[in-house]
Amino acid sequence: MSERIQAPRGTQDVLPEQTAARAALEARAREVLESAGYQRIETPIFEHTELFQRGVGESTDIVQKEMYTFDDAGGRSLTLRPEGTAAVCRAYVEHGMHKLAQPVKLWYLGPFFRYERAQAGRYRQFWQIGAEALGSEDPAVDAEAILLLTTLLTDVGARGITVKVSSLGRLESRAEYRAALQDHLRRHADKLSEEVRNRIDLNPLRAFDSDHPGTREVMAGAPLLRDFLDAEDAQHFSEVLALLDAAGVAYKVEPTLVRGLDYYVRTVFEIHSSELGAQSALGGGGRYDRLIAEIGGPPTPGMGWAAGIERILLAGGAPPHAAPPVDLYVAGPVGPTQFRLVADARRAGLGAQLDLAGRSMKGVFKQAARLDARYVAWMNEDGSWELKDRQGGEQITAPDADAVVRDVLRGPGL
Ligand code: HAM
Repeated sequence: MSERIQAPRGTQDVLPEQTAARAALEARAREVLESAGYQRIETPIFEHTELFQRGVGESTDIVQKEMYTFDDAGGRSLTLRPEGTAAVCRAYVEHGMHKLAQPVKLWYLGPFFRYERAQAGRYRQFWQIGAEALGSEDPAVDAEAILLLTTLLTDVGARGITVKVSSLGRLESRAEYRAALQDHLRRHADKLSEEVRNRIDLNPLRAFDSDHPGTREVMAGAPLLRDFLDAEDAQHFSEVLALLDAAGVAYKVEPTLVRGLDYYVRTVFEIHSSELGAQSALGGGGRYDRLIAEIGGPPTPGMGWAAGIERILLAGGAPPHAAPPVDLYVAGPVGPTQFRLVADARRAGLGAQLDLAGRSMKGVFKQAARLDARYVAWMNEDGSWELKDRQGGEQITAPDADAVVRDVLRGPGL
């Protein structure tokens, strides 16, 4: 026998019994987002590598070590998308969406790819559902984005949710803060992890993310960004919080919240679940007012989020889902009459299945019970049909297959 081939590490098959929960989650997401005016967009699975280098940022883990990048046969460097925001912004620019009524509100759902250490809740191919509102700086856009993700997660039953919010300010506020933080880090450089020390110049904020004990000790005494926000940024943030209060969204202001992507300014947020272990973020996002200009578009503000489908499901978030009912289960052997009966029943809007395994009558009834089919039908030798109502009704004889659909199934029976 040949050696068995397995799925690559960090990828997952979604098996039939798991697809129903995903479909239900998708359906609920569509309802929540489309009733708030978001429209679905699909972007390619791969993009020019440069989009993520410029969009997500050279100093991020994603760009430095997690991208699936390859040259195609034409020698172009392409990358499997590690996230959706940069691509949605590219599409906004490419299709001239700044000419539409603003903000343009878009949502997406699909697979994303990051070469991360695989563990529970962290995969190399994972699915995200995301929403982006492009073209408005209004704090109401921020509050609404946070409200929508909170609503979705609550609606689908994700357990143990905490909403964490912070503001990173704009670059002007942040420049002063960065200098103060770098100063603090340099003063305590001997206690820091090597990785954090090497990133003091490039990305000092990421030090808040470290789980290295020495670094954590240093960070406990670090200056906080919120004390450096300028008046406009502070005002923007307090309006976001006031709107969340007005909508009854419970949140925690977390001044050290750091996101793994470089494009954020002002509002950032994450929603965590106590049901998950180390990888507890179900979703996160924030404002990215410079990203569209960064990738060559007209300066345009943006705000959005993405949430991991697998993590939502791990946190218990799957709305109840009813499989479509099987109204009719037709016994074999399958000849033209049986085949036509099932086709006619489906045309009449009924759920119908054929026995395709050559089962005995006993086996047919066993399978019908598994499927919880309402009627079992079989043909007599003279071409008439028997229908057994599995919900306790009587057994009916119909003169032919047409009569089964016409008189019984479309009649008072169902
Ligand atoms: P992110 O925080 O990198 O943000 O990812 C969002 C969510 O995707 C995470 O909270 C997590 O649930 C899920 N996720 C990320 N990586 C993995 C993984 N390796 N395995 C399983 N799930 C994962 C973004 O991607 C931004 N584009 C969000 C955004 C949209 N910001 C503004 N707009």
